[in-house]
Amino acid sequence: MWLQSTVWALLATAAELAHARGPFLQILNATHSVIGNDHWNVTQGFAYATKLYHKNQDLVGNAVGHYVSYSLSPTSNHPVIDILTVFPDGAASDLNWTSPTIVRRGHDFIDVSFTAIEGDFHWIIRRDLVGAYQYFVNRALPTLGEFRSLWRLDNTSFPNGHTSIKDEALPPLSDYGISTKIQDETWQRADGSYITKYDWSSFIREEKFYGVYGPDFGSWYIYPGKDEYNGDHLKQELMVHRESSTGDAVQLNMLHGTHFQSSPSDTFAVGKTWGPWLWYLNDGNKRDAAARAAREYAAWPYKWFDDAVYQSRGAVSGVLKLDDGSPASNAAIFLGDNNSNKSSLEMGSKNYYTTYADERGRFSFRDVRAGTYGLRAWSTGGRHFNVPGFYLQNDVSVVSSRYTDLGRIVWKPRYKERSEIFRVGSFDRKTIGFAHGGAPYTHGSSDLCPDNLNYTVGRSRTEDWCFAQTANGSWAVNFEMSWRESVRRANSTALLTVSLAGYSTGTSSTIFVNDAKVGNLTSGGGSTTDYNKGLQNDPGLYRSATTAGQWRQFEFELPSGSLKAGWNRLEFRVERSTRWRGFMWDAVALAWL
Ligand SMILES: *[C@@H]1O[C@H](CO)[C@@H](O)[C@H](O)[C@H]1NC(C)=O
Ligand SMILES: *[C@@H]1O[C@H](CO)[C@@H](O)[C@H](O)[C@H]1NC(C)=O
Ligand SMILES: *[C@@H]1O[C@H](CO)[C@@H](O)[C@H](O)[C@H]1NC(C)=O
Ligand SMILES: *[C@@H]1O[C@H](CO)[C@@H](O)[C@H](O)[C@H]1NC(C)=O
Ligand SMILES: *[C@@H]1O[C@H](CO)[C@@H](O)[C@H](O)[C@H]1NC(C)=O
Ligand SMILES: *[C@@H]1O[C@H](CO)[C@@H](O)[C@H](O)[C@H]1NC(C)=O
Ligand SMILES: *[C@@H]1O[C@H](CO)[C@@H](O)[C@H](O)[C@H]1NC(C)=O
Ligand SMILES: *[C@@H]1O[C@H](CO)[C@@H](O)[C@H](O)[C@H]1NC(C)=O
Ligand SMILES: *[C@@H]1O[C@H](CO)[C@@H](O)[C@H](O)[C@H]1NC(C)=O
Ligand SMILES: *[C@@H]1O[C@H](CO)[C@@H](O)[C@H](O)[C@H]1NC(C)=O
Repeated sequence: MWLQSTVWALLATAAELAHARGPFLQILNATHSVIGNDHWNVTQGFAYATKLYHKNQDLVGNAVGHYVSYSLSPTSNHPVIDILTVFPDGAASDLNWTSPTIVRRGHDFIDVSFTAIEGDFHWIIRRDLVGAYQYFVNRALPTLGEFRSLWRLDNTSFPNGHTSIKDEALPPLSDYGISTKIQDETWQRADGSYITKYDWSSFIREEKFYGVYGPDFGSWYIYPGKDEYNGDHLKQELMVHRESSTGDAVQLNMLHGTHFQSSPSDTFAVGKTWGPWLWYLNDGNKRDAAARAAREYAAWPYKWFDDAVYQSRGAVSGVLKLDDGSPASNAAIFLGDNNSNKSSLEMGSKNYYTTYADERGRFSFRDVRAGTYGLRAWSTGGRHFNVPGFYLQNDVSVVSSRYTDLGRIVWKPRYKERSEIFRVGSFDRKTIGFAHGGAPYTHGSSDLCPDNLNYTVGRSRTEDWCFAQTANGSWAVNFEMSWRESVRRANSTALLTVSLAGYSTGTSSTIFVNDAKVGNLTSGGGSTTDYNKGLQNDPGLYRSATTAGQWRQFEFELPSGSLKAGWNRLEFRVERSTRWRGFMWDAVALAWL
């Protein structure tokens, strides 16, 4: 194999000498080779690719360059132990490459494969493309955890970061040196403000292109194949950042990310592919990058990618209604693992599709890989329907080149909107509507919420509730019940639904109704279901998230007699707390069963 590839490369070199142009692989020695075309080239070493030349400039310079790495799932649920403290740099698990080989060749491209124990990383290099399509084929990745490819680039050529929601200079390394480290990759400046890479996060499925750039160069990721990411609509990831130990400009490609969720544990089939995505190099022009992204999205799934499993796709559609006949307007619709007890955010072994229903509850997916899926749907709140939980239908089969119509699907939620006593917020798995909910990613936003809070049904507005509760104190919902209602419901059970947009361990709460304890929200405790993963830690709240972390939902039944005529009081009493850790609220609602 090695000999064969060397011969190939020598032949290629000879051919290139004759033509002196075009995409090439040049093997230097047992550990180093150069790949590229007339516009750029990079030297791939045992783990890192460096010396990225474009326009006669080395765009890696003293930075680490390009590499691929993984981190295992942390097994601990300890609030302060996370992936980054277990693997500070991912360094123990940077993939090591051998056997560079041109595995395919066309009139204007070569596909160069580098082999690691875990799998093969490919660069598809075209004659006139500045950049390359890249993809990875799994062979033996362990159960993960985090898996990513990335560029760590020269910080003078790439001073700025760009995502769909943030575009500015990366914080200078000099700021880190004069600030105090307060937690995982987070520093506090003398003026009290914070520096953290997590401010550079976003909802990854909403990104069209992102990267690092400066006045002369831009390096971008354009990845239309979002079905290959783990998680659902609310999958968040870190996109770009300044590396705090070296100052490198970092551009991340989180293929299987874990920065904003509890610890997923996924195994991957041999042959599973991620990509092709496009790593695109230009002169720093964002409009050009956006135009290129539009072309890539229009061309996805890539017809030129020679992989039968990748190309085997079908379509599926349906109409989702509630059992009262009303449409599940704007419901989030997810195609994920068949018959799985994981939450949709935690799924990650296979391929995942996300969309939203329209006003009439109609939805459709195109270009879904053939297979059997579990379909889930949930409300997105607001002026649309508001129901906790999710609709589930397993055994949804998608057949290649076929269109599957699921027809009319009826969701019969246990919770009835018409029997609602009150609801604070809307069931959208997000903090939207509450004070500071959905603010830009900023570390420490939970400090803006009060320790104690009274919300009075009928008088208070949604924004009087705050997005996160992290301090000792009591947050109460006061609600009035008429004498007639209390008599009519004398024998009724009420269902309290507590829906959390996220939860970071270190803060616990006890729930009281009229001073009687009805339950708790404590790591490892509380009323749990499989998909909630108990109350395990998700790092969202202490990693700058203000919209969501990992959604969980809890139900507490209040036996008849719990509520009384006149004023009633529901309380979340926190008596054990850790700053920046605790509850991110989605909605709290009470309804008669
Ligand atoms: C292989 O080539 C690289 C790049 O020229 C060089 O840094 C490295 O020392 C070489 N390794 C050996 C074993 O010659
Ligand atoms: C890589 O690019 C640099 C700068 O343009 C050039 O000097 C060098 O010869 C190229 N390397 C190869 C192997 O073509
Ligand atoms: C790659 O090689 C380095 C140096 O030998 C080693 O420390 C590292 O663990 C290897 N990576 C993997 C994923 O085995
Ligand atoms: C760029 O990286 C160098 C180290 O290579 C560091 O000294 C410098 O402060 C960094 N620049 C910025 C703006 O962070
Ligand atoms: C999907 O899950 C159901 C329930 O466990 C199972 O009966 C069925 O075989 C699964 N379908 C496929 C194709 O795996
Ligand atoms: C909330 O209401 C309770 C009961 O009336 C009162 O004791 C408490 O001080 C109020 N808290 C705040 C923050 O207003
Ligand atoms: C509640 O149950 C009691 C005892 O069974 C019964 O007498 C009463 O009529 C019931 N009240 C209502 C409103 O159903
Ligand atoms: C919390 O609730 C769970 C289940 O309802 C219970 O097993 C556990 O003991 C409670 N924990 C505390 C600290 O009250
Ligand atoms: C989820 O399902 C798997 C396989 O069906 C089972 O092994 C696992 O224990 C379940 N997890 C929980 C939390 O129940
Ligand atoms: C929260 O209250 C508990 C119990 O009273 C106390 O031990 C703890 O120190 C308080 N935490 C903070 C941050 O004030």
